[in-house]
Parts: sequence; structure tokens; C-alpha cells
Amino acid sequence: MAKREEVLVLDFGSQYSQLIARRIRELGVYCEIVRHDLSAEEIRRIAPKGLILSGGPASVYADDAPTLDSGLLELGIPVLGICYGMQLVSHLLGGTVERREGGEYGPATLAIEDHDELFADLPATLDVWMSHGDRVVELPGGFRYLAGTTDCRAGAVADTQRRIFGVQFHPEVVHTPKGREVLRNFLFRICKCAGGWTMANFIEEATAAIRERVGDARVICGLSGGVDSSVVAALLTGAIGDQMTAVFVDNGVLRAGESDEVRKFFSEDYPLNLKTVDAGEQFLGALEGVDDPERKRKIIGRTFIDVFEAEARRLGEFKFLAQGTLYPDVIESVSAKGGPSATIKSHHNVGGLPEKLGFELIEPLRELFKDEVRVLGKELGLPDRLVNRQPFPGPGLAVRIVGPVTAKRVAVLQAADAIVREEMEAWDGYDSVWQSFAVLLPVKSVGVMGDERTYDNAVAIRAVTSLDGMTADWVRLPYELMGRMSARIINEVEGVNRVLYDISSKPPGTIEWE
Ligand code: XMP
Repeated sequence: MAKREEVLVLDFGSQYSQLIARRIRELGVYCEIVRHDLSAEEIRRIAPKGLILSGGPASVYADDAPTLDSGLLELGIPVLGICYGMQLVSHLLGGTVERREGGEYGPATLAIEDHDELFADLPATLDVWMSHGDRVVELPGGFRYLAGTTDCRAGAVADTQRRIFGVQFHPEVVHTPKGREVLRNFLFRICKCAGGWTMANFIEEATAAIRERVGDARVICGLSGGVDSSVVAALLTGAIGDQMTAVFVDNGVLRAGESDEVRKFFSEDYPLNLKTVDAGEQFLGALEGVDDPERKRKIIGRTFIDVFEAEARRLGEFKFLAQGTLYPDVIESVSAKGGPSATIKSHHNVGGLPEKLGFELIEPLRELFKDEVRVLGKELGLPDRLVNRQPFPGPGLAVRIVGPVTAKRVAVLQAADAIVREEMEAWDGYDSVWQSFAVLLPVKSVGVMGDERTYDNAVAIRAVTSLDGMTADWVRLPYELMGRMSARIINEVEGVNRVLYDISSKPPGTIEWE
């Protein structure tokens, strides 16, 4: 197979590094994020069509300012420095960067002086997004100005001989409406990319790679019914058919009807080699009397591994374990940001099986972002309903039942949650919601139904918007919708007489209650 065309983003710690990579991929060129200090030798070996130096929070004069192997500026590979990336290149090549306390933050108007390459086919002025303190005030030898703002003469610069370009603004963010065209010019005019990287190509490449690696061995994969594991199972089925076995574990804390839906779907509508294990009793037994959230998570994680391992043994010899690891998980470990962040909740994928199980890992999605996985799922023929599913935590309803988990309480929550789900899905704002669900509280309160006094459970409804689950805001749901959910839950779910709406954002709240 011919070498795949790619562009590298050297990550200097910008919050936008992933966004740059996504924008490049949207333009049809495969793009990866690498450490900022990757050696010129290594880059020569990878032979990318272009290099993008990301922004970053540092000043080039800071003691621990991240830098790069200046040898890579000699490789003849086109370079685009963005914000810090541009300042760093200017500094390394002998220009002057001015340190400033204040700066230029927010929208600005960029006046373009040179429309040759980077700004070809663009108007005389562009709305751009600025976010910088320092600025380049003297250019290195060989460079010239391409564009500027009133605050920053060096809005864009270039040494066209050495194929080094720099922009002080952020072409990757939506607040730079024509930013995509600037990146397009860099890719296709300057780097001479051919483009055409799509999910259809990806399937072809991934299928060939899986076949070659697996040979005639067998692969096992855990199927949760969520997007990632479903896409992995579908991709593997296309590549190696029944050499893959997907194991679906019903842990007794899934949403109402979910277990049946997954089984039915993957046996009738999208048949694949699926084994299901009904382990609800085992999980609920292990959870008996436990109300500490962290212990619940650990117990569910451990029980999942026990059940999965036993099933794998029962099913015979497997050489490989397939997992739905995504690109953001991979970048975390190489990111220049580094540094362990505090453990807020013991994390995360219960499906993350430990290596000691002795399988070799196959992670066919490790190059993809979540939205790309959804596109891939569609390309593989999975329905929208599955591909656009809301995230669901591995420990399931157990972390939405505050206090001990019992079969009875699971049933109450499933019934209330099914109403929330039904009403939310019927609402025309549903597509903007990241997650919506019910939570069963360990609180009883007095009510009156008919002429009877009741003393029953309270349920909280949670609906949030979020981009990545890291921060979230509660959804301003219409009162009528809230009223309908509340009335239906109280009337239809035995054991619930009060409904609350959770109006906490994250931070300081988390999305799940436990
Ligand atoms: P929190 O509650 O930490 O959740 O704000 C952030 C996102 O992660 C999901 N979540 C999990 N996903 N295993 C998972 O696979 C878990 O243990 C887990 N805990 C939380 C949560 O639903 C939200 O989308």
C-alpha cells in the first residue's frame, strides 16, 4: 500500500491542538498530533507533507518554554506556525518577539498585503480571532509580512524560500470564519497535498491492516451497545467475519430495554458473531449493601473482568482483544501538557480490560476523533439511532442510584428513566443535548395521591449540553416538557412521588451524580 499522505501538528500545549487536527482532517488530509520536541530525524522518517506548530500558553522567553528541534526547519517540509508556533520560529531564526502584559484577545480585522499563497482567493480583509500577549516585532532574515492588524503588524508572515509560514491569529476556530480557507491554502497550495482522505478510505486501510495483523487467529471484543464498541465490532466483522466474537455482558444496571435492543439488533438487523452473558444477578450480588460511589465503580469494573474472562475461556482460544480506544485518549499520553490531573472519579471504561489477561490489543479507532467514529459507523451501515447515541457510563445505572443498588431500585429508576428518554427524544431540541437521564435519590418525602398519603422516592432529572464531557451546562428545558416528565413519572412509576430538575453545571458539579 502506498504511504498515506499526512500532516503533523506539533503540540505546544494549546487548547486548540486537537481542533487543528480535526480541521485538517475535515479538509481530507490525515493529520496526527505529536510532541513538540519530536526530533528532525524522526520527522524525516515519517515524511509528512507539512508541519503545523500549534499555539501554546508559554512565552518564548520563559525558562521552561517548550521548543523544537530547529533541524526540522531545514528539512524542506512546509511549516505553518500558529500563534506561539509562529513566535517560536521567529525567535529561533533571529527575529524579535516582544513580551507584553496586556495583549490582543478576541475578534480583529486582518488586512492582507500578499495574496500569493496562504491568502490566495481571499478578500482584502478577514475577520480573525486573536488570543496572544507576546507579538513578533522584528522578522528574521528572509521573512516578510503577509498581513497585519492594527495591534499586530505581524498578523501573518512568511519566508517563501524556506517554505515557513506563520499566523498570529487562530485559523482553526469558528471565530475566524475564513480560517478553513487559510488552512486549505496551506495544505493544497503550499504542501501540495492531494487530499481525499475519507472514512471510506479509512475502512479500506483499517480492514487491510486488521487482516494482515490477525491472520487466521481469533479476536474477542466487548460490546457495550455504545457507539465505539459497536463500530469496532462492525469494522472487525467486515474485515474478518466470524473470526471475531463480540461478548455483550448484561450487568443488570442497563437502561430499560437496552439489553434486548442490543441482542436483537446485532442478531437480526446487523448480524454478527455475538455472545451474550446474563450476569445481572452476579453484579447485583456483588453490589449488595454498597453505597460508596468509588466502591460501586470498582466492584462493577472487577466483576466485568471476571465475567468477561470466564466467557472468553469458555469460548476457546483468542489471541487478540479489540478495544474502542479513541484518539483523544492516545493524545493524552503524548501531549506536551502532560502532568497527571487529579482523579475525580476512578475512571472510566469498565470495558478497559487489563493487559494481564494475556491478549494482544487491537485498537482500530485509535486514530479517530469521536465525530469521525460516528461518520465511520454510518459508513459501515449502522443506523443513526445507534451512531448518535448519548454516552452512557460503564457502571450504568449504579452511579445514578444514589445509595445502595437493589433489583427493586434498578427497576424504579429504569421506569423513570425510560419516560425521560421518551419525552426527551420527542423534543425538537434533543439533538443539542449531550446527555439526559433520571437519577434515583435516597430521599423519601411525603405526598398525596388521590386521598392517600404517600411516602415515596424522589427522582432527579439531569439534562446537560457539553462538547466533550469535561465541562457541561444544564439545559434550559421548556417548562411544559419538565412538567410532562414530572407528571408522567409520578403517575406511571410506582414508588416515586416527587421529581426535581438538576440545575448544576460542571464544574463544580459532575454530570453523573456519583
Ligand atoms: P462526570 O460524571 O465525570 O462524567 O462529569 C463525564 C462523562 O463521562 C461519563 N462517565 C463514564 N463513562 N465509564 C464510562 O465509560 C465511567 O465510569 C464513567 N463515569 C462517567 C459520563 O456519563 C459523562 O458523559
